[in-house]
Amino acid sequence: MPRQLFVTTALPYANGHFHIGHIMEYIQADIWVRFQRMQGHQVHFVGADDAHGAPIMIAAEKAGKTPQQFVADIAAGRKPYLDGFHISFDHWSSTDSPENHELAQSIYRELKAQGLITVRPIEQFFDPDKGMFLADRFIKGECPKCAAKDQYGDSCEVCGAVYAPTELKNPYSALSGATPVLKTSDHYFFKLSDPRCLSFLEQWTQDGKLQAGVAKKIKEWFTKDENGEGGLGDWDISRDAPYFGIEIPDAPGKYFYVWLDAPIGYLASLKGYFAAGGPKAKYGEARSFDEFMADPQVEQVHFIGKDITYFHTLFWPAMLQFSGRKLPNQVNVHGFMTVNNGEKMSKSRGTGLDPLKYLSLGMNPEWLRYYIAAKLNANVEDIDFNKDDFMARVNSDLVGKYINIASRAAGFIAKRFGGQLTSNLGDDGRALLQTLQDSRTAVADLYEARELGKVLREIMLLADRVNEYVDANKPWELAKQEGADARLQEVCSVCIEAFRLLSIYLKPVLPALVAQVEAFLQVAPMAFADADRLLGAHVIGEYKHLMQRVDVKLLDALFEPPAPPVVDLPKPGGEDIAPTITLDDFVKVDLRIARIVNAEHVEGSTKLLRLTLDVGEGRTRNVFSGIKEAYRPEDLIGKHTVVVANLAPRKMKFGVSEGMVLAASHADEKGTSGIYVLEPVAGAQPGMRIR
Ligand code: 2FM
Ligand code: ZN
Repeated sequence: MPRQLFVTTALPYANGHFHIGHIMEYIQADIWVRFQRMQGHQVHFVGADDAHGAPIMIAAEKAGKTPQQFVADIAAGRKPYLDGFHISFDHWSSTDSPENHELAQSIYRELKAQGLITVRPIEQFFDPDKGMFLADRFIKGECPKCAAKDQYGDSCEVCGAVYAPTELKNPYSALSGATPVLKTSDHYFFKLSDPRCLSFLEQWTQDGKLQAGVAKKIKEWFTKDENGEGGLGDWDISRDAPYFGIEIPDAPGKYFYVWLDAPIGYLASLKGYFAAGGPKAKYGEARSFDEFMADPQVEQVHFIGKDITYFHTLFWPAMLQFSGRKLPNQVNVHGFMTVNNGEKMSKSRGTGLDPLKYLSLGMNPEWLRYYIAAKLNANVEDIDFNKDDFMARVNSDLVGKYINIASRAAGFIAKRFGGQLTSNLGDDGRALLQTLQDSRTAVADLYEARELGKVLREIMLLADRVNEYVDANKPWELAKQEGADARLQEVCSVCIEAFRLLSIYLKPVLPALVAQVEAFLQVAPMAFADADRLLGAHVIGEYKHLMQRVDVKLLDALFEPPAPPVVDLPKPGGEDIAPTITLDDFVKVDLRIARIVNAEHVEGSTKLLRLTLDVGEGRTRNVFSGIKEAYRPEDLIGKHTVVVANLAPRKMKFGVSEGMVLAASHADEKGTSGIYVLEPVAGAQPGMRIR
């Protein structure tokens, strides 16, 4: 019986585009999903935008849009990322969908019927200008400890103190600047402290289904300290209007806190997928969404980052349990992704890895899929994107070990044997292929356990064995030997068979590449079961180069800070810029600071002034300059300017000129827009070189 899997990734807030952290999670989940599909299992892989909450409402207001329009605009930008990195979601929705409104309200009613909802008054800061309660992050003021100004409502960035927003001195609203006032309103709580919830969660989180590190962390959350502090408190699930969210039934002006309806969005997206007929079209699914979710065989699998563990391992299972629903079978938690040795991701410093820039540079998305897979394991560990490591893994392993096998054998099969493989294999070749086939279970088990780094190491070890076989049999030498045709065809057939087996194992990671491999091999889309047989006397197609190596220039470009935007300015009669010169050309010109010791009219010249310059040489120079119409000699004396000091002396009608003073002008407008002798900023001394 095929497994029935309902798989999700965390729903991204709809207030920004995907960053590398999102893409990393999607790649991890997508590899697992593709593996399951290749095992013949049925998978519904769904995502959605997390649309609600105060930050999105406020961002929309700033952008002059309705929250709905704001969220829709973000959602419209998702596709290039998902398609670009071959993320194979079956369906994408929004937590603002009708399905989610309805499901969130039903789940709430069910929890209420269980006696798990309670109402308590809460005193909070309220912005009288905006007419709204302020979340901690929208309150600022002076730190109660160190008096640093402009600190957030929960902690001080200067001294690190942690406090309640009500402790801030001179608090103000970050939204309006108004002084907030304390105001009381009723809040709705999910009673997590109810003994039923506690005993359920203690059991559910500790029965071995969660990663060991995650289960241990949760245990700490359960435990009260010696003062009776900590432990699980009730969860505040309501927010007062105005709020972009889902209305709480029978509670006018109250909305669900975004984190209540966000995970329900997983169910809502699947429900939408059923409504659109997806499961029916794909697997002939005859059941409704409700019937499907009532089937205990269906497995619910979530992929999330470590920062949202609390929501997914406590609140979410409790909500599901006490509303009588299926519980998650897996909550797979991963660490964060850092870039280039954990440098804080920062756009302005250009150290982040922008996924769209990666694609627009023409970098192969499967390099990144392969690299991320190589770094991932089943634990909650951060992984680092490192340039050199990336080059090494892609170039040496992926291309050097795997792709090369095909390129070393395919040409001979095409040219010498018309694409015909032979099934007539020697013992050494058979033994090698058997080893590869025997690894199927080990590879599959590692994929199942999300040990992606180990999968790729295992596959690369197999590739090493194949390359040893190639090196031992040297097809390029067989090709030159008289009477070695049969052996050449055999060795190359073994290589192609081996390449096919490795391609099956790599397909969850490299789906687009392996689709090309399937075309080249002239085979139908491959599944894991296809590793149990060989191609035999099969005819393959023409080999086209499958994958380039990474060029370091691409990586450099990827991490180059974005160039400042080019600003168009008016261009009043300017000359075109002269042809480019090299630095060597430039340094030939010796420009020096000169002090104008004397300046005087030249008898008989309407254009020239005679300048006596000190260029720091221990003597003065005589220079004629065509600036008579622009300057009176007495205004120039004592000023500093710039002179071309190594210009060959020029004999003129009035004497020899030993250099040239620099002046600015428009070529075509002399006289109207003027001539301006260059003058250095105060402090420059005669003889200083300009470079
Ligand atoms: O942390 C986040 O980005 C949330 N938007 C994740 C929500 S996951 C699920 F609960 F919807
Ligand atoms: Zn402080």
